Amino acid sequence: MDDRTTRRVLLGVTGGVAAYKAAELARALLRNNVEVRVAMTDAGTRFVTPATFQALTGRPVATDLWDAGFTSGMAHIELSRGVDAIVVAPASANFLAKLAHGLADDLLSTTCLARACPLLVAPAMNREMWDNPATQRNLALLRGDGVAILGPAAGDQACGEVGMGRLLEPEELLQAILDFLSPKRLAGRKVLVTAGPTFEAIDTVRGITNQSSGRMGYAIAAAAAAMGADVTLVSGPTSLPPPASAHFVYVTSAAEMLNAVNAHAGAADLFFSVAAVADYTPEAPAARKIKKSGEPLEIKLRPTVDILAQVARMPGGPFCVGFAAESENLAEYAQAKRRKKAIPMIVANLVQHTVGREENEVTIYDEAGAHALARAPKSRIARAIVEHAVALFEARGGAPRLATVKQAS
Ligand SMILES: Cc1cc2nc3c(=O)[nH]c(=O)nc-3n(C[C@H](O)[C@H](O)[C@H](O)COP(=O)(O)O)c2cc1C
Repeated sequence: MDDRTTRRVLLGVTGGVAAYKAAELARALLRNNVEVRVAMTDAGTRFVTPATFQALTGRPVATDLWDAGFTSGMAHIELSRGVDAIVVAPASANFLAKLAHGLADDLLSTTCLARACPLLVAPAMNREMWDNPATQRNLALLRGDGVAILGPAAGDQACGEVGMGRLLEPEELLQAILDFLSPKRLAGRKVLVTAGPTFEAIDTVRGITNQSSGRMGYAIAAAAAAMGADVTLVSGPTSLPPPASAHFVYVTSAAEMLNAVNAHAGAADLFFSVAAVADYTPEAPAARKIKKSGEPLEIKLRPTVDILAQVARMPGGPFCVGFAAESENLAEYAQAKRRKKAIPMIVANLVQHTVGREENEVTIYDEAGAHALARAPKSRIARAIVEHAVALFEARGGAPRLATVKQAS
């Protein structure tokens, strides 16, 4: 893919109840500067009319292999030329079977077979259809052929059953597609991310922690990986699944997080310090469970090492991005923290806007001032944060190293 800012996608819609979600996906792609052309199978048109997609995209919907409206008379060739990817969402069990075996008996399947671009499919079907060995065999064939499979998810199904086979939500599909299409500006780069809370032991069972869910840090790690980076994610205790796209280091305490960061920071090009690391830790955790008594209990705390400040001071260290969660005076506290730690960029939010939530609303502070990002899912905010950091990093001379790496590969 080149450096064009506008991407082009052919959205294929096949015959499943979830076809209505493709309309929302088309809108979301358009809102994100992706040009969309839609092609539908005959069964797909039974669920949502082509008129809906034509109205949304402003372009006629292709349904007919023999459509004389294409200059060359070969819609199946013209449709996939000049697009960055074909995305089939929803992809029916039948359509996956046809793709896996190279069948070309309608416009969409013929276009997929004749494509000169990547293919992404988002399966959606009843759970028994999904579990059927034939479907699983077809998926294995498609994976082997380099087709990207998006989802499906588990949950309530239109047929009333519950299980695997739901189409991913339009927002999830959007993120996966944008990830796929995003220029690999971090190819050859190492990115280190910390995420989640830490847990500071008071005794063998109790400890001091905080309400950080880890979602923002995990989203930053995923966004950097989508931009081609080699990502290491150092995470405190969270309930999130380890991301497949990053090297994962699980830690508990602030001291363990410091050790893990020290082990990786030297090789990192960028460091995103997203974790809510404890500022204080019990000076002498008890070696056994503290027994209850009627007396007041005092726990002496000592300050922990400031991980971000330490990495920021490393000679030749990574480009550092800090995060500040405040409950008031956001701009003042965030800029003061950025200057004190001598870091080029800090992302600030109000705790009441972020902790434990799926969405976030942040402001980026750098030498140039404040850059507010509107409220959005954490995955979208993460992408904008990483893009901002990469732009600053490249402006400081990160780019030449990237060019060298590219030439060598
Ligand atoms: C009401 C209804 C809902 C259906 N939903 C699905 C579905 O969600 N997923 C699927 O794979 N097939 C579903 N089917 C079956 C497909 O529409 C059928 O296999 C069709 O031949 C698919 O054609 P296509 O792959 O060319 O679009 C459904 C059929 C009906 C009648």
